[in-house]
Amino acid sequence: MLKKNILIIGSGGREHALAWKISKSKHVNMIFVAPGNGGTATEKNITNINLHTISELITFAKQNDIFFTVVGPEVPLANGIVDEFRAHDLKIWGPTKFCAQLESSKVFSKAFMLANNIPTAKYQSFSDYNSAKNYIAQQNFPLVIKADGLAAGKGVVIANNNTEAINFIQEIFNNNKFGSAGSKVVIEEFIQGVEASFIVMVDGNNILPMATSQDNKRLLDNDIGPNTGGMGASCPAPIVTQSMHQKIINEIIQPVLDGFKKLGHTYTGFLYAGIMIDTKGNPQTLEFNCRFGDPETQPILYRLNSDLFELIEAGLNCQLDQIKAQWFNQFSIGVVIASQGYPNISRNNDIIYGLEQMPANVKIFHAGTKYENNQYLTNGGRVLCVVSMADKLADAQTQVYEAVKKINFNCMQYRTDIGNKAIFI
Ligand code: AMP
Ligand code: GLY
Repeated sequence: MLKKNILIIGSGGREHALAWKISKSKHVNMIFVAPGNGGTATEKNITNINLHTISELITFAKQNDIFFTVVGPEVPLANGIVDEFRAHDLKIWGPTKFCAQLESSKVFSKAFMLANNIPTAKYQSFSDYNSAKNYIAQQNFPLVIKADGLAAGKGVVIANNNTEAINFIQEIFNNNKFGSAGSKVVIEEFIQGVEASFIVMVDGNNILPMATSQDNKRLLDNDIGPNTGGMGASCPAPIVTQSMHQKIINEIIQPVLDGFKKLGHTYTGFLYAGIMIDTKGNPQTLEFNCRFGDPETQPILYRLNSDLFELIEAGLNCQLDQIKAQWFNQFSIGVVIASQGYPNISRNNDIIYGLEQMPANVKIFHAGTKYENNQYLTNGGRVLCVVSMADKLADAQTQVYEAVKKINFNCMQYRTDIGNKAIFI
């Protein structure tokens, strides 16, 4: 059997986890990660490549006999990397630029949900300050305001009163806080409930669900502080019972495939629905992402007991109906360790200590790190995601936090309650 070379695009914890999991496949020779991080720099059979533009990546894929490419983050998808690779007959796992609008534009996404009867909060969209302000004056609080475009998880505010709402739209429209990503906003009703991440693989016609999970988006314990990209996740999410799972597939996921077909497009790749299970027990869609979640990927792939290469290959061949994903019958938890200042700014170049003392049941996925002169240094906001797994969630929690406490760098910050959402349902 000729072993294959794989290319992964991105530099976060999600991409480290994707590369690590695919590298375990018997079908794989070498994994290249563009640009990767300190973790992918030092894994067996994984090599970082310092390439960034789509045309550089296409040339690299052709010259290095890349069997398929997997795209981690949303930005290259929104920029059309899938369309361009396919135009060069290169296999790539992800949605097209058109389908990626489900994540890259909240206005597109909400209109799509409305057109396809996908349950979601009632909303209006606005492209100027005065109309948004007048609308806010007539609403009840809390009220949710979202910048239209990509903002790395930071473009959403839950305003508790008129002043907070006005401050946010002033930042967006008058101070240009999010650049062109803030040229429009969506203002929507606040939904009370319990959140879960529902991630699937889609090959155009078939859906292969990944294990469910729960992210912790706020910076601080007990869900206070600003929204972040995610401070930790646990897998699976007990709130997603078997009947809830089916309801989410029927009411939220399948309509996405059908909705794109009606528009003459085909969705392929990972699809992530951010779900709020409301107080009546109905799943509401908070958002769609056109990729795997970060940090959800890390605990989800740690629990995956199947060959991820084979799952993606089946997806590329439109054969997801012919393959099953097997999961370890355990709970996994991933705790993010972030640098000082995250999510606003990040302090870089601090030496990370303690990474080598880890037990076998712990895996450290790197995100904002680099490897220089035999040392790992911080290089971004979310620095590491420490993952562990056990039969009982409480044991996974104990194990993961014992590991976190061995790690040390200047001014590191992490939440101490990751996993509680799954314990206290
Ligand atoms: P989004 O990027 O749209 O998922 O929003 C980020 C976070 O804001 C979500 O994970 C939720 O915690 C919260 N959120 C978004 N929309 C709503 C809503 N309509 N009601 C309550 N919370 C929300
Ligand atoms: N963890 C949330 C996201 O990946 O968007």
